[in-house]
Amino acid sequence: MTTRLSVAGTVHVPGDKSISHRSLLFAALGQGTSRVRDILQSADVHSTAGVLRALGVKVPELSSDFVVQGHGPQALVQPTVDLDCGNSGTTTRLVAGIVAGRERLAARFIGDMSLSRRPMKRIATPLVAMGARVESEGADGLPMLIVGGALRAIDWHSEHASAQVKGAIMLAAVSSGVSATVHEPSRSRDHSERMLKARGAQVDVRDNTVTVHANASLQALDVDVPADPSSAAFFVALAGLAHSGELVLPNVCLNATRTGGFDILGRMGVSITLQDERDAGGEPLGTLVVRPGSLRATSVHGAEIPRAIDELPLIACVAARAHGETRISGASELRVKESDRIAAVVQNLRLIGVDAEELPDGMIIRGSDKALRGHVITHGDHRLAMAFGILAAIPGNAITIDDPACVAVSFPDFWSELARVIGAPSPRISGAQPASVVTESSEQIAGALQHNVASDAGTSSSERMVIAIDGPAASGKSSTAQWVAKRLGVRHVDSGAFYRALTAANLRSGRAPDTWSADSVLGEAHRISLALTERSVVPTLDGETADDELRGRSVTQEVYRVASMPEVREWVNARVREAGATSDVVVDGRDIGTVVFPQASLKVFLIADPWERARRRLVQRLERRPTDAEIALETEALVARDAKDATQSRPDPMAITIDTTSLTQEEQVDRIVALAQAARVG
Ligand code: S3P
Repeated sequence: MTTRLSVAGTVHVPGDKSISHRSLLFAALGQGTSRVRDILQSADVHSTAGVLRALGVKVPELSSDFVVQGHGPQALVQPTVDLDCGNSGTTTRLVAGIVAGRERLAARFIGDMSLSRRPMKRIATPLVAMGARVESEGADGLPMLIVGGALRAIDWHSEHASAQVKGAIMLAAVSSGVSATVHEPSRSRDHSERMLKARGAQVDVRDNTVTVHANASLQALDVDVPADPSSAAFFVALAGLAHSGELVLPNVCLNATRTGGFDILGRMGVSITLQDERDAGGEPLGTLVVRPGSLRATSVHGAEIPRAIDELPLIACVAARAHGETRISGASELRVKESDRIAAVVQNLRLIGVDAEELPDGMIIRGSDKALRGHVITHGDHRLAMAFGILAAIPGNAITIDDPACVAVSFPDFWSELARVIGAPSPRISGAQPASVVTESSEQIAGALQHNVASDAGTSSSERMVIAIDGPAASGKSSTAQWVAKRLGVRHVDSGAFYRALTAANLRSGRAPDTWSADSVLGEAHRISLALTERSVVPTLDGETADDELRGRSVTQEVYRVASMPEVREWVNARVREAGATSDVVVDGRDIGTVVFPQASLKVFLIADPWERARRRLVQRLERRPTDAEIALETEALVARDAKDATQSRPDPMAITIDTTSLTQEEQVDRIVALAQAARVG
């Protein structure tokens, strides 16, 4: 086994996230048909599309080439649902500006736990100064209600170099037909200015000040979204850290407000050559050819910070391998990103053995060549997962990542692309597996992937896709699995239904449950068969699907008896395998990835803290919001049951664990679907 990392290939980095959001938002605000090509199809951009749909804009399903019919800000309609912005700060802040500028619109913005914690006062204060009403339900953050109004012009000195703050103010002005001037302490990304100009608005830019003039009426515009420099940066870093090889990254956005990360990596010694530089759709772009270098420490501060803001976690990870001490300062904005990226990066660097220190507004990292080992906690932050994923790919390191699936926010195919360019043998892999296993070297990543592919080939379901979703009681796995199956257009198999069917058969037999033995239970098994519906494979009892009976109280009370009998489990496993042989399936249960389908194409393990599991169970049972006292009681019962549970679920080492505590069901489904799509490649 060599211990050298070699890279090769061309990486088509997905579309720029900032430009993708704006291509949808500005198309909706424009008049006429705007064509969008190569948009980023990631969770964050889906959030923007969803929010626009809730405001009455006909945004088609995202694809590589589609059109949006714009009818101007006046055509937006009062949403009848909360605007769910998921994990996306850009969606929240830019749409907040748009809603603020419309009289008669009021919208409540919600998001996941990470987004709900992020500061919104920075946009609320100028929007209120313009005449909108903004109310946060907590001290700051989401949920937040915005009531639009006929706004007045504003001349605003922003404390933050933030394109989201600047964009919120400019969009409020456009949406209300007034002018706005924003002064920033240093220049943030300027995609909004460029796109407004390209759509015919009068926009002046001088130093760090931007003015959008009154009555800007936006025209339709076709946008080709260039590749995202913040996503490309991971592969620039990877090539820089390699011992040999070269990566080619075409069509990367080279807007100077975004290329700080490349400047810093270049300064640290990564060899970056630009080719085929050109302008397209108002943005400069080009091809990056990247090669290894001998890496040295650097210092990052001042006006370079906003130009590299999203790349700083990655720079910190590269610094762990660079000669000398790297210092990042003046970057307190990092504390209010998807996670507190100063605390989280430093903690994780230390966890894997790097000498790193927190500063109030940055961090210090001392590089070394030593093997890095440990488990990274991403806090669901996509950029942390990818930054540490790059370190995980280096031979000799042994790094695991708790939630690799969170890359779905900005770069759904990240793991498969990473595996491909470091020489994994087959592209038919699960996106997150390379980093979810301990990676001793790139050869071992390749080996793990090979194992998956090889073991699949040896089974009767070699052509079948099986997605295994395991987890403890009330982790929400069954309804999530059902949705995942629906989204993927495959069948769902609820293994629990087979235990329930067997329980129901035995209850029908009239024998007292406390006398049941494995023999007597299986004596009734002949009454159960498999039935295929369009979307599932289900058990039938005496020739009928007996849903209500299977979900009823007596079956729920007695099912634990049959599920704890090893012989019965074997019988159920055989039925579930038969179900899996019928078609591509998503199967949920306790031991699907470990026992039933050890060769599954993707294994997911869902966890959630007991309080949240208890809450979900009660919501389902009571069909109302449970009180804290009720949840506390249910939590106790659940924890006690977990402890006694003979069938307690343990994750397969290859499973991707997703902590669903702070995720909506839709977010869980999005992540699993993104992983499944990566697993299906090839
Ligand atoms: C973005 C602006 C930046 C950046 C984020 C995207 C945008 O945030 O970190 O990923 O598209 O406007 P701030 O404006 O808060 O710095």
